Amino acid sequence: NTFCVIMAGGIGSRFWPLSKTETPKQFLDILGTGKSLLRQTFERFAPICPAENIIVVTSGDYNKMVLEQLPELTPEQVLTEPFRRNTAPCIAFANKWIEERNPDANIVVTPADHLIINESEFHKAINLGLDFVETNDALLTLGIKPHRPETGYGYIQTGKDEANNESIKKVKTFTEKPNAELAKVFFESGEFFWNSGIFLWSLKAINSSFESHLKEVKQLFDPLKTKPAIEEKEITDIYAECKNISIDYGIMEKADNVYVETVNFGWSDLGTWSSLYEYSAQDKEGNAVINGKTLLYDTEGSIVNVPEDKIAVVQGLSDYIVVDSGDALLICPKENEQQIRQFTNDIKTEF
Ligand code: GDD
Ligand code: MG
Repeated sequence: NTFCVIMAGGIGSRFWPLSKTETPKQFLDILGTGKSLLRQTFERFAPICPAENIIVVTSGDYNKMVLEQLPELTPEQVLTEPFRRNTAPCIAFANKWIEERNPDANIVVTPADHLIINESEFHKAINLGLDFVETNDALLTLGIKPHRPETGYGYIQTGKDEANNESIKKVKTFTEKPNAELAKVFFESGEFFWNSGIFLWSLKAINSSFESHLKEVKQLFDPLKTKPAIEEKEITDIYAECKNISIDYGIMEKADNVYVETVNFGWSDLGTWSSLYEYSAQDKEGNAVINGKTLLYDTEGSIVNVPEDKIAVVQGLSDYIVVDSGDALLICPKENEQQIRQFTNDIKTEF
């Protein structure tokens, strides 16, 4: 009765110019392994639940790409959202689909675009978490020990009195994307974990949390019939009415039955070029060449990614991002990569 929900509808804007609205990073082989991040995510869950219990929630534009990359799935396992409304509606939609197939389900919800280094540790962690949510009315998240005051994550505080040797702890507070000042306080206190964005719960537990905290979202999905097929008009009407909210703001910050399982399997959300750089093979000057034929002179600490059939010659750069996607070229110091979002917005208005 284990189901896995892969959320694959985001746009990954900080990975421009490789990640674009047409092909967000989950569909790309961003690590140069020969497999997209979505494909890797699917394969990581294959030992945990049968393929027919794995569903992907994505937007209409990406539906075909999902089926091409995951030919094991039937079209009904790819839930298509007519509009992007963030992760809470995505999860409510999946819950309804699962409810019509197995009301006693336990569910793992996962992003489609993360890197996990140690797969066997990962499998152990998921199985431990599944045992926990099977017998507890709990919303369980996998927590990562933070190593910088990142503002792009959820921060989880565990109670001081919790035994330190227990890997599953009751959560005291959950703060999604704190500002820089608060992130620094959280980080330095040593009392917080990052939310990995991987959640485990029983269908019953998550449904009752929606009842308590996002009733209006759940009510929209309640009348939906997912069998034998989802009516396009019905789902479009639901999404047109539905508010835009993430599960983190909508439920995790509010619920009082949140637990965290602290994990250590090597995790990155590959949010930016620098985070990819950190996890890529580097030459002795600390350069990571992801793709392309490349000659580097007096260059260090840089990440280079050009098309397979292109030759890149780089001279005299320190700590730079050089990415050519074929139709767009980015050259930017690594330390300024947070501006990439701005660049992509400016491109929309300029061209
Ligand atoms: N189907 C669908 N529809 N998927 C979506 C949507 C949507 O509208 N929006 C986002 N997703 C998918 C993304 O593709 C990604 O796989 C996942 O849901 C998480 O969304 P992000 O937009 O990447 O969230 P985030 O990175 O800002 O924050 C979340 O992840 C962090 C860890 O990486 C939060 O859960 C944070 O608390 C967490 O720390
Ligand atoms: Mg993310």
